[in-house]
Amino acid sequence: MRTGILGVGKYLPESVLTNADLERMVDTTDEWITTRTGIKERRIAAQTEATSDMAVKAARMALDRAGLSPSDIDLIIVATITPDMFFPSTACVVQDKLGAHGTPAFDIAVACSGYIYGLAIADQFIKGGLYRNALVIAAEKLSSVTDWEDRSTCVLFGDGAGAAVLGPVEEGGILGVNLGADGSKGELLQLPAGGSRMPASIKTVENKLHTIKMEGNVLFKHAVKMMSDAAKGVTEPLGLKADDIDIIIPHQANVRILNAVAKKMGVDPDEKVYLNISKYGNMSAASSAVALTEAVEEGRISKGTKVLMDAFGGGLTWGALVIEWS
Ligand code: ACO
Repeated sequence: MRTGILGVGKYLPESVLTNADLERMVDTTDEWITTRTGIKERRIAAQTEATSDMAVKAARMALDRAGLSPSDIDLIIVATITPDMFFPSTACVVQDKLGAHGTPAFDIAVACSGYIYGLAIADQFIKGGLYRNALVIAAEKLSSVTDWEDRSTCVLFGDGAGAAVLGPVEEGGILGVNLGADGSKGELLQLPAGGSRMPASIKTVENKLHTIKMEGNVLFKHAVKMMSDAAKGVTEPLGLKADDIDIIIPHQANVRILNAVAKKMGVDPDEKVYLNISKYGNMSAASSAVALTEAVEEGRISKGTKVLMDAFGGGLTWGALVIEWS
């Protein structure tokens, strides 16, 4: 018995922020953003819309498509670095909104690799026999932690949510997982204040320490190596070569990173790498979740398709997973 994905869902906020809009906010150009990142626009959640609101909408779509109701779910995991609040967890808020009372629910903070970590955790619970069906949601409101005066970061991020319902399958399913982290490089991508190390104060707000700080070009190099190694770490033990993979669903951080990873893996990015970064930017954990959902919606994934998911993010963390669609 293996774990399969029974249904996928997504939610993207209505409001679109284009590169032309950003040209009016910071010293940047559509040309710079497009050529350096591949991003043309991103979605921005409404002020009244929290991460859990987006998560619930994506979850309902995944449940509908799986033909299940919240009462069928035995476990809820929310991957997010932009929770509604420190606690209760966003997963508990989602559980309440879905009316899945009593179901265990918890958050994981793994930044961009969060969806793959979430799928991997749910896989263990299902394969181990403790739970039958799990709901894994990746949801981010990065606009709430973005410094809108910092052109080196504000052009990159967007808001959104993706979800999957997992359960036992007789054919296909998750074939392998490879997770990793390197905490020694955590300072390359962080949100410094608001925790126990540096509690919120007037000074932390004045110094904008509640927003994302990133050393983009250093991260770029790590991203290429870590995503390539992560993919190798899951495909090699399974005896899979690049040709055996039908589609790669990567974390959508930067189109140049993805082209470099594809080159290292020896695959044609135009043929095998699924991209939607131009529409949504980097939504952290939600990026690969929304990408998987859209690849299914577009018919790029169907029964028997071998999918490689591959992500890299703050922590630093990385994760790769191979699933044969059921
Ligand atoms: N518009 C115009 N110019 C800009 C902008 C902008 N928006 N941002 C930076 N620049 C300038 C810089 O100031 C610099 O100017 P200088 O040469 O005069 O000093 C120049 O452009 C080049 O800057 P770099 O940072 O070297 O540009 P780079 O080609 O590396 O692209 C980017 C920057 C897009 C951030 C890239 O490094 C990247 O994608 N890095 C990886 C990001 C990532 O993967 N993050 C992890 C996941 S996110 C998460 O976990 C939440």
